[in-house]
Amino acid sequence: MPVVALIGAQWGDEGKGHLVDLLANKARLVIRYGGGNNAGHTVVNHLGTFKLHLVPSGIFDPGIVNVIASGVVIDPEALIKEIAGLEASGVSTAKLFVSERAHVVMPYHMLLDQLQEDARGIGKIGTTGRGIGPAYADKMSRTGIRIGDLLHEETLLNRLTAVLEEKNRVLTRLYNVKPISLHDTYLRYLEFGRQLAEHITDVHPIIHRALEKDLPVLLEGAQGTLLDIDHGTYPYVTSSPPGAAGACQGAGIGPTQLDSVIGVFKAYTTRVGEGPFPTEIDGPDADILRQIGTPWAEVGVTTGRLRRVGWFDAVLARYATQINGIDTVAITKLDVLDTAPTIKICTGYQLHETQLDYPPATVAVLGQVEPIYEEMPGWMTPTTHVRHFHDLPDAAQAYVSRLCQLIGARLGIVSVGPDREQTIIAAEVF
Ligand code: GDP
Ligand code: IMO
Ligand code: MG
Repeated sequence: MPVVALIGAQWGDEGKGHLVDLLANKARLVIRYGGGNNAGHTVVNHLGTFKLHLVPSGIFDPGIVNVIASGVVIDPEALIKEIAGLEASGVSTAKLFVSERAHVVMPYHMLLDQLQEDARGIGKIGTTGRGIGPAYADKMSRTGIRIGDLLHEETLLNRLTAVLEEKNRVLTRLYNVKPISLHDTYLRYLEFGRQLAEHITDVHPIIHRALEKDLPVLLEGAQGTLLDIDHGTYPYVTSSPPGAAGACQGAGIGPTQLDSVIGVFKAYTTRVGEGPFPTEIDGPDADILRQIGTPWAEVGVTTGRLRRVGWFDAVLARYATQINGIDTVAITKLDVLDTAPTIKICTGYQLHETQLDYPPATVAVLGQVEPIYEEMPGWMTPTTHVRHFHDLPDAAQAYVSRLCQLIGARLGIVSVGPDREQTIIAAEVF
């Protein structure tokens, strides 16, 4: 049975939550493997509209086990709130398991994220302010606190005492702000541990028993390849590896256990936060892509910021395919282009006298490239009701086929609306 990673192939918000919700009924286990509550995954199904930040998007099917794996960084307060919201909507979280190895986003991480952003001034990254960068930095520095530590009074007190001593020196001396109370923080986080205790466990046996039994497993990506700490548009990136390699690392499975990597691409491109964006546009075409006034307008789910928009960038898309070994393509938000008379695709970059078919490694250079566009005619007709690929207008079929040709992988899914039902399965993906 397949083990499938579904990953963001652009700058995030490609519609991963929507597709995980769609595919989850084929899985027995859904695993969120990385990132934190910087993610915002929208699911629209028969139960309503949900904005998930930490809980996997497979949670709506009561038969499925959902795991928040070791590679995730968790703000326990945010997770408790999310679980309560789901329960209040009648969604059971009884089969949600949280890895005791996952790291905790602590209050000083959130504070430092905001202070560091302020200090960067015009060089700011545009983070979500959720403390994600500082939490991953502490994990790498081996000064992190793990979710399992919240269940052990002595461990928590010892670790927190040592860490807070250093953090408070930085907060008071470097940033001139008030220190964080050891006593209050200890008691608060111990209480968070108590509230999450029924979900916290060693998830390794859960995941590997499923693999041994050959059960279908779906790995849910957060963020997107161009936000990857190693391969993204550094430093305008997040602090984790959101792609297929990160899926294996974060979930604790081997790369040879992955059967397929589904790359999720919007039919155009968006980005929240700062950093280069070669195909970014403004004006009437941008207004079509922004879809302001609709529930799926290009507004960040986590921060409410307007997303920047632009045409599909096949140079970056091909790069994402190479970085992740994407074998299957999901194209989302095709319907957003229903009113565009002409659609552009960036097929290469012009850098002074040179043409490039790969993205330059440094943002200073990526910021200088001029996109080379090819144009395709729009279809100027609604597609939101279409459920079979061959029922799409010819021009829409041609556009999707051209994207797949440029991306370099086979078509699996086309999405024509935010609802679970508004999808076209073009080939078996799971
Ligand atoms: P994620 O972070 O990758 O899960 O994506 P987000 O939820 O942040 O952003 C995707 C947005 O597009 C959400 O508002 C979805 O409801 C919406 N969406 C997803 N697929 C489609 C689609 O095919 N068409 C339209 N119109 N909206 C979609
Ligand atoms: P989903 O899972 C879009 C972006 C932020 C910022 C950069 C660093 O919903 O696709 P961070 O808070 O991670 O340190 O911010 O990364 N970013 C996202 N953009 N979708 C996301 O997640 C994102 N998660 C982080 O906007 O530019
Ligand atoms: Mg999102």
